[in-house]
Amino acid sequence: MKRFLPPAGHIIFWREIVSYFFPIKNLNKLNLGSATHLANSGTAALYRLFLSLKNNQEKNEVIIPSYTCPTVAAAIIKAGLKPVLCDISLEDFSLLENDVKAKSNSKTLAIVQVELFGILPDNSKLKEFSKNNNIYFVGDAAQSFGNYLVNSELLNYQKYDFLVFSTGRGKPINLLHGGGLIIVNKNALNVISEENKIPDVSIIEKIKIFINIFLYKFFFNPKLYNIPKSLPFLKLGETIFTLDITLERFNVQLDKMINAVVRRYPDIFENRLKHKKQYAKLLSKFSEYLLPIKIGDKNELIRFPVLFRKSEDRDIVLQKLNEIGIGATGLYPHPLNTQQGMEIYNFDQCRNATQIARQILTLPIHEYVKPRDYEMISGVFDLFLKRK
Ligand SMILES: Cc1ncc(COP(=O)(O)O)c(C=O)c1O
Repeated sequence: MKRFLPPAGHIIFWREIVSYFFPIKNLNKLNLGSATHLANSGTAALYRLFLSLKNNQEKNEVIIPSYTCPTVAAAIIKAGLKPVLCDISLEDFSLLENDVKAKSNSKTLAIVQVELFGILPDNSKLKEFSKNNNIYFVGDAAQSFGNYLVNSELLNYQKYDFLVFSTGRGKPINLLHGGGLIIVNKNALNVISEENKIPDVSIIEKIKIFINIFLYKFFFNPKLYNIPKSLPFLKLGETIFTLDITLERFNVQLDKMINAVVRRYPDIFENRLKHKKQYAKLLSKFSEYLLPIKIGDKNELIRFPVLFRKSEDRDIVLQKLNEIGIGATGLYPHPLNTQQGMEIYNFDQCRNATQIARQILTLPIHEYVKPRDYEMISGVFDLFLKRK
């Protein structure tokens, strides 16, 4: 079987998988010192947040990045609110302050900053703006949550009112289920509606989650990853927009597993830092073909983003890396305004978001990425960029 590196994730140990059958009622060892509500997914946590915010105010518009996971928009629409797309920076993929200002008005209820790949943007100006205009400031840490786990000070530093995270597939903590909502702003503690109406995950769903984790344990291995990758019904890596969102409680069978992964998270974090540094070094040789990205020294990434100056270069490198078994991706293929299923909303086009969708490439960061993979990646960049 041809070796193929999965695009993102981390290894789950057998002892962690076995713990699924020995749950403890000892949830939430995240130790972030703030009120945390867990849910069945990051999308569900976002949905719960927006339902609660809507209950409290007349405002109905939520500003989000134009280039992000479509579930962010879906959660807003499902809650009966209106997403407003805003352009993002080519340097760190965060919301452009000027565009946020241009698109906000008296109906703006919240601004959602997405920390794409794990990059932590400077939020000071947006925080000030949202505070002055009585707008909730929400952080989507689905991809950056690992940074908060190793440094809980970031909760204060990043200045959100609410922080949403995911423990789904390919996320910093990769349990193929779950997510949550942290209330950072103590004044907003009462904003989130009661939890007692939220149903538990059904037995059938619990069995499905176990099977998923079990299969993941095998197929995350590069020697076997080609098998699930070649099964189209699994839709691995596809970006889908759907309003089919269920809000349930976090699956308690995963209590021990989440605690165990949190305990060993410093190792996962260190490993990701190491890969990040290696990629930065490797890619510095190709700077004339790439746009500079501002990545902090101390934060982990779950995938390494590469932004090409030309989409043709991105396309050829992406194709060749996949041919040699490196799980590079083009992340989301479209900005939200042209994402399939979202055209009906007639969202504005945003220039940088459109450019990023065409020119971005991500490189895998996890335990299976080895020195020879760097060499192969470097070889592809050399061959297909420099030969022109
Ligand atoms: C930025 C972002 N927000 C939210 C989500 C939704 O998380 P989940 O898959 O747990 O529903 C994702 C998932 O990919 C994401 O990337």
